[in-house]
Amino acid sequence: MNHSKNCPGMTLWFTGLSGAGKTTISQVVEQVLISEGYLVERLDGDIVRQFLTKDLGFSKADRDENLRRIGFVAHLLTKNGVIVLVSTISPYQDIRAEMRQKIGQFAEVYVNASVETCEKRDTKGLYRKARNGEILNFTGINDPYEPPVNPEVTCDTNCESVDESAAKVIEYVKQRMTQNLKPSIPLRMI
Ligand code: ADX
Repeated sequence: MNHSKNCPGMTLWFTGLSGAGKTTISQVVEQVLISEGYLVERLDGDIVRQFLTKDLGFSKADRDENLRRIGFVAHLLTKNGVIVLVSTISPYQDIRAEMRQKIGQFAEVYVNASVETCEKRDTKGLYRKARNGEILNFTGINDPYEPPVNPEVTCDTNCESVDESAAKVIEYVKQRMTQNLKPSIPLRMI
């Protein structure tokens, strides 16, 4: 497919615990979609927090502000035909619902892995620090995570490979693209 400015954009909002695989899966999705000619941008919590939201911490108010700024950028890109891959923990249901409502062309991707799985991986050593009390408000240990109620896609990384999870997301994107591209029936035909 040759993605042009006329193609509809959408935001895929990856949510899940730290270490669940949000970044890894979204990187594979990004590569595949780019190789097929889609316009893609990725907004990753760890990177955005070094630039756009450097001033914010991990209280609920700060996490909400982090996501509102990311959502603002995602909305602009979506309006311009880009497939936006947002990967942030986004632990609270209310702010995810707000983003869904604001962005419109929005889908939630629940990257599900148990705390035990993420803690075993502990790629950044943060779970150990949280257990030692060196990090407060760490999601899943001493801060809440509210799983999505009705996510469009669920990746269970306790048991799926990265490629299996990415394939689910890509299939969803393509289905949704096809739906969005279908011409709506003119009123006079009804
Ligand atoms: S969110 O809650 O506002 O959506 P975001 O995804 O941007 O979080 O950032 C999460 C990343 O920040 C984690 O992957 C981890 O590397 C780091 N981090 C540092 N402190 C915390 C904390 N208290 N809770 C969760 N993640 C933290």
